[in-house]
Amino acid sequence: MIIARSASELRELLDTKTLSVGFVPTMGALHIGHRSLIETARKENDIVVVSIFVNPTQFLAGEDLSKYPRREEADFKICELSGVDILFYPDVSAMYGADEVRITAPDVRGFILEGSSRPGHFDGVLTVVMKLLNIVRPSRAYFGKKDAQQLALITQMCENFFMNIEIIPMETVRENDGLALSSRNVYLSSLERQEALKLSSALKRATEMLMQGNTKSSEIKASMEHILVPLNVEYVAIVNRKFEALDEIVIGNTIVLVAARVGMTRLIDNVWL
Ligand code: PAJ
Repeated sequence: MIIARSASELRELLDTKTLSVGFVPTMGALHIGHRSLIETARKENDIVVVSIFVNPTQFLAGEDLSKYPRREEADFKICELSGVDILFYPDVSAMYGADEVRITAPDVRGFILEGSSRPGHFDGVLTVVMKLLNIVRPSRAYFGKKDAQQLALITQMCENFFMNIEIIPMETVRENDGLALSSRNVYLSSLERQEALKLSSALKRATEMLMQGNTKSSEIKASMEHILVPLNVEYVAIVNRKFEALDEIVIGNTIVLVAARVGMTRLIDNVWL
């Protein structure tokens, strides 16, 4: 595995035009969820590039930028063992200059749900992903459904800017008890870890209600909110794949989402129905 620390270093390594390149952007603290993206990229492409960059522009003031888990040595090992060819590992100065052009998230889809809880977050995500995709120029880029709104906005950005990159959505990897893997799970105490299961339990309840024939969003949301007590819930939402609110679940075109704080830790999860 070769480590590149700047755009020019990476481009020198990737001057080939004939081989397919699979790209997995991450912020490190890699877990099995990240690994499933990397392993799929490995199967589907000639060359696999992973980036590890804790992107400052997607953190709001007061969020966990300074304490976001950083595990360089373990991450490098995981990448190497997963068959990564090139690890892109820039520092902030290799990615950002002063007074730059930025990408702005769309007015509606970029500012509801996650965008409403974290205004400006998606501007930072889209800006860094645009930079990363332009540096790596992959054939395919892999993103998790766990960050459903991020995935939708990145897919939309590639369409809106006529970028010739296939965005591959990947299933959420969970612990045996249902908790969705997240780099932020390390913040949870063992008691909070138990409480955090309420997110996946609420989503399971939504699936069960649908299987029993109940498609009413208001009833499903009420039942989910009941399960989530006493967590500090930021939103429970039922939307279609375009992130438009749904009164009734439409099978094959619905995402049920939840965001809640467990202690100080903000967690998100969702299920695609
Ligand atoms: P990060 O949180 O490190 O996630 C990197 C990728 O892993 C994202 O596409 C995310 O959706 C996916 N992922 C996270 N948890 C997962 C799980 N349990 N199962 C499957 N996939 C999972 O998302 C980011 O970084 C950043 O916003 C980034 C896109 C890199 C831009 O900075």
